[in-house]
Amino acid sequence: MSENHVYPVSAELAEKSLLTNEQYLADYAASINDPEAFWGEKGKILDWIKPYTKVKNCSYDPGHISINWFEDGELNVSANCIDRHLASKGDQVAILWEGDSPDQDQSITYNELHKRVCQFSNALKAQDVQKGDVVCLYMPMTPEAAVAMLACTRIGAVHSIVFGGFSPEAIAGRIIDSKSKIVITADEGRRGGRPVPLKANVDEALEKEGTDCVEKVIVFKNTGGDVAWHEQRDLDWETITAPQSEQCEPTAMNAEDPLFILYTSGSTGTPKGVLHTTGGYLVYATMTFKYVFDYQEGDIYWCTADVGWITGHSYLVYGPLANGATTLLFEGVPTYPTTARMSEVVDKHNVTLLYTAPTAIRALMAKGDDAIKGTSRESLRILGSVGEPINPEAWEWYYDKIGNKSCPIVDTWWQTETGGILITPLPGATDLKPGSATRPFFGVQPALVDNEGVILEGAIEGNLVMLDSWPGQMRTLFNNHDRFEQTYFSTFKGMYTTGDGARRDEDGYYWITGRVDDVLNVSGHRMGTAEIESALVSHPKIAEAAVVGVPHEIKGQGIYAYVTLNSGEFSSPELYAEVKQWVRKEIGPIATPDILHWAEGLPKTRSGKIMRRILRKIATGESDQLGDTSTLADPSVVDQLIKENAEL
Ligand code: WTA
Repeated sequence: MSENHVYPVSAELAEKSLLTNEQYLADYAASINDPEAFWGEKGKILDWIKPYTKVKNCSYDPGHISINWFEDGELNVSANCIDRHLASKGDQVAILWEGDSPDQDQSITYNELHKRVCQFSNALKAQDVQKGDVVCLYMPMTPEAAVAMLACTRIGAVHSIVFGGFSPEAIAGRIIDSKSKIVITADEGRRGGRPVPLKANVDEALEKEGTDCVEKVIVFKNTGGDVAWHEQRDLDWETITAPQSEQCEPTAMNAEDPLFILYTSGSTGTPKGVLHTTGGYLVYATMTFKYVFDYQEGDIYWCTADVGWITGHSYLVYGPLANGATTLLFEGVPTYPTTARMSEVVDKHNVTLLYTAPTAIRALMAKGDDAIKGTSRESLRILGSVGEPINPEAWEWYYDKIGNKSCPIVDTWWQTETGGILITPLPGATDLKPGSATRPFFGVQPALVDNEGVILEGAIEGNLVMLDSWPGQMRTLFNNHDRFEQTYFSTFKGMYTTGDGARRDEDGYYWITGRVDDVLNVSGHRMGTAEIESALVSHPKIAEAAVVGVPHEIKGQGIYAYVTLNSGEFSSPELYAEVKQWVRKEIGPIATPDILHWAEGLPKTRSGKIMRRILRKIATGESDQLGDTSTLADPSVVDQLIKENAEL
């Protein structure tokens, strides 16, 4: 499908939507010309306990990176997500829960959510959780995950959610870095008919050195599965929550008080604790949710992301609830128990807005019409995509099959670091081109720069940067402002470096080309090659490892690992399986290498640096395009690797 294939906004759609193209253009210009005035007005989308008088105070100056929005205002996130809706829509469903098994569901009204959050907030307080304390969540996709998040915000505790698919090793690392005082988990999760051993993983994590900052573990009884119990440390959710009062006064938080930490992968080192604060983040999540999904009263919104990822924070919980929407939380997977489960859930709950990831779309597309069998999906109004570039074929399938050729697709580009969507179509305003994230949201100033940081004009490809701050931007890396500056502001001075490449076409539309650094995107999950390499070399038989991404039909990218064994060790099918299993255990199933390439040596420069550029080309079978190999210490290594790759 050519990029010239345009899906224009119909007059009918423009009419029904919150914004037309003219309004978008006018508001966008206003947001850039006078951000103070624009955001000063838009900040009123929230209820403030103490209104702000200052709007924007940000510096991208080298050595003085500082980002502040609404800095003298005070508010509470849970009050904005719950309390303020009670008078008008207390009986409206806030959280619609669909279990892994289709016969399990729950509807939780705003009144009920208020009660549950207040009680759990009081339970946390009773455990001496104070404003500023870090609480680690390792939760299944049940309403309690949202309740725990909102309860933290109600009392000013900072949540740090660890994705339920991560290993004990990964949990421990995050607990230690964030100094979590409490861990909230469940006995087990459920996915695709199988139990996920959440509590057992937490138990194992807490055996590791350095985790003694954790005082208590609160365990929600989800499946009723058998778990070990540590009398001194473990608390049953229900037992500590049921006796609590149903009222809990929300704590007034400064706009720049920390709201949450979320660990994400970078190109080097251990995962980074991205820190978001209260006011700007919520203003931005609320605004983007409203306009990107064209949210209107009565919509049933379903985001398939897990709460363990940023999408689950901004567009499963905070954005929708701050708008008073009904948000559907799904415990399972899109293809269980039937291939058409996703479409069945849409029909069952009359979902109007659906937000999912290209990897899920491609997995369904591979099943053909079985993915929509027996369903109408007639309730749908708008479709969204997030997490990785969506290839035009998958876009067209999503549009034709899931959306019955009648729903615009918003291909939303953003990152854990950006807090909310930065580049995206708006349903009633933006003509769509399959594969393009199109244009910037209000207040967002993208630019393309060359490798020297020179800004490029017109239709061209380059490194995607942001020239100025927006309210949802991360403020720092937890306890590591130097690394924050180094990672995001040192490559190109005076701008925020996204780590992505992009192309801009003649219409000013952005086409994200993918990461330009050593970060992989596997099924929409971000992973650093360095993390996987360090997991590999921690295996006693492995001397050296280098990981690169290769195209993968469903996952977007697959993991290709070059592994050099210690001398005296030999490869075997058993070791192949063992090494894969090792990585699963060290990081989690999502990091399992797709391909192991036993390599006797890796291509290095004379100074000993591994030449990844060459490894990428060999892995993708493009060995005729190796480029300059003159700096190689031993060129014969390359020939050997090419030969081995052909035999894999
Ligand atoms: C990629 C997820 C193309 C990108 C919200 C980014 C995308 C990384 C898109 C962030 C999109 C996300 N088109 N690429 N619509 N959305 N990405 O932090 O490489 O998990 O840098 O945040 O995902 O992943 P993260």
